[in-house]
Amino acid sequence: MAQFTLPQNSKLDKSAGKHHKAPEGSKKVRNFKIYRYDPDSGANPRMDTYEVDMASCGPMILDALIKIKNETDATLTFRRSCREGICGSCAMNIDGTNTLACTKTCEEVKGEVVIYPLPHMPVVKDLVPDLTHFYAQLASIEPWLKTDSPAPTRERLQSEEDRAKLDGLYECILCACCTTSCPSYWWNGDRYLGPAILLQAYRWLADSRDEATGQRLDELEDPFKLYRCHTIMNCAKTCPKGLNPAKAIAETKKMLVERRV
Ligand code: SF4
Ligand code: SF4
Ligand code: FES
Repeated sequence: MAQFTLPQNSKLDKSAGKHHKAPEGSKKVRNFKIYRYDPDSGANPRMDTYEVDMASCGPMILDALIKIKNETDATLTFRRSCREGICGSCAMNIDGTNTLACTKTCEEVKGEVVIYPLPHMPVVKDLVPDLTHFYAQLASIEPWLKTDSPAPTRERLQSEEDRAKLDGLYECILCACCTTSCPSYWWNGDRYLGPAILLQAYRWLADSRDEATGQRLDELEDPFKLYRCHTIMNCAKTCPKGLNPAKAIAETKKMLVERRV
């Protein structure tokens, strides 16, 4: 079972933060206050402040983080890959909201830019959350097409109408912004699957080509896996791709009710 220890919330050492000045002659300085935590050091987490010259920085929060890492502090650790809002790896809490650093502009944030890792997850280092449990939960819903019927010679066809039922589901990039904003997941994340994984589960329930609907619903009919959602809607508010996991959860509950009657 994952340990939901919360290093980001445990004894932030307010006096230990370092201040990194921008180079002499910088024209448009902005402060980035960033959560720093290295479990190997044995020290409590701290908030470091980096002055960034926006006159020589790209427009996105990720551009600023890369500039800090390249020019000021190579030890600053964060995940990123596509810088296009596709891979989901740069998810973090920026200005109080879970979002993607590569699609959030610096302009959108007023004043100091405060950055934490995704909330209520164990932290590997700095802005990198440990997603081991999240991925194990994804694997548990068997997110692939399951069929019993013989494979056709070319492909399994789907009508345009059935394909449209996957809109709003297939776009999920598994960034975990929704799951880590969900209060039910904060308190019951060891057993509650959370909005991202439940949206993925519904993505297969909604797929006309999948032949394991009954088995999938059996797996989800559990007081903790599904029914810890209390429709608080944080998930839909925070999703950087504009998706609505709460709706997918409601549809799943509806399928469970309908198969009983
Ligand atoms: S539903 Fe949205 S917030 Fe949640 S994992 Fe998918 S893309 Fe990220
Ligand atoms: S609607 Fe459900 S899944 Fe979404 S934040 Fe609320 S409790 Fe969590
Ligand atoms: S770097 Fe891939 S989503 Fe931000």
